[in-house]
Amino acid sequence: MKEKLQVLLQDAKTEISAAKALKDLEDIRIKFLGKKGEVTSVLKNMKDLSAEERPLIGKIANEIREEIENLLDAVKEDKKKLEIEDRLEKESIDVTMPSKQTSRGHKHPINVALDEIIEIFLGMGFKIAEGPEVETVYHNFDALNAPVDHPSRSLSDTFYITEDLILRTQTSPIQVRTMMNQKPPIKIIAPGRCFRNDEIDATHSPMFHQIEGLVIDKDITMADLKGTLDMFAKRLFGSQTKTKFRPHYFPFTEPSGEVDVSCFKCGGEGCRFCKGSGWIEILGCGMVHPNVLRECGIDPDVYNGFAFGMGLDRITMLKYEIDDIRVLFENDVRFIKQF
Ligand code: DAH
Repeated sequence: MKEKLQVLLQDAKTEISAAKALKDLEDIRIKFLGKKGEVTSVLKNMKDLSAEERPLIGKIANEIREEIENLLDAVKEDKKKLEIEDRLEKESIDVTMPSKQTSRGHKHPINVALDEIIEIFLGMGFKIAEGPEVETVYHNFDALNAPVDHPSRSLSDTFYITEDLILRTQTSPIQVRTMMNQKPPIKIIAPGRCFRNDEIDATHSPMFHQIEGLVIDKDITMADLKGTLDMFAKRLFGSQTKTKFRPHYFPFTEPSGEVDVSCFKCGGEGCRFCKGSGWIEILGCGMVHPNVLRECGIDPDVYNGFAFGMGLDRITMLKYEIDDIRVLFENDVRFIKQF
């Protein structure tokens, strides 16, 4: 039995020195000193020994047990240190490594176009005005000189919330709100979302965007209107761009017109883009109607001005050659990522 214990001690020593990790040491402890361990089982069999042998073997067994425990403890400390060092090494951060690239996303094409347009008008001394998307019938129609029987006021064109409240069909009510709240001179642009009871197709959406413009001062003429819009078109579509003013009708301006720009794709020759005409319509405009000025508390005998309104979605589509308005609002990242 004495020899057996010596062999066990030897085995334990070899295994301890071969141990690689803390976990191995724990396995060795269980194997030799655990409840069913090899040294423990020798101690358990002591009852089979003679009375003289028993204390002797008992002493040796306890010594061996103690020796294995001490060895395990010592090596455990070393292993712990090693493992900590190892971990520190592995987890150390190299601050000189390039960082992981995070993708930043970017502006929606409508916002890119909007920012560009805003930039152009800010450069010409305009300020930005805003108004509510839920608007009164009064601000959207009456104050803008639209008669009660005007077709755009009908239920089939406009989203009514109550008899007097609607989703604004145009940004023009912002003109009214601005004139009622500010004294001339006024020089604003007003971008915003508008709503009309339109069927969705490639060129129509019940929700769309406009940018309104308004200038009120003394002695404003059609020349100011034409000069401003011509300058705007050249800045947005390129310095070669020509503009054409066609007569039109809007209740809130007199005279009224629509502005076409020479096609920036073909330079006016005629192409698929401008449907062969060489011109592309971009906005409506006119001299503010005296009725509108009067309604907003501005004396038309002292002040006058011009206004204009353009479709932002349409301009975005022209700019990026997008031929279906729906993709602008579906927010499919595969589409938006392209810009
Ligand atoms: N509000 C008009 C529309 O939705 C656009 C417009 C035309 C605005 C002429 C104006 C303007 O301010 O003077 O069709």
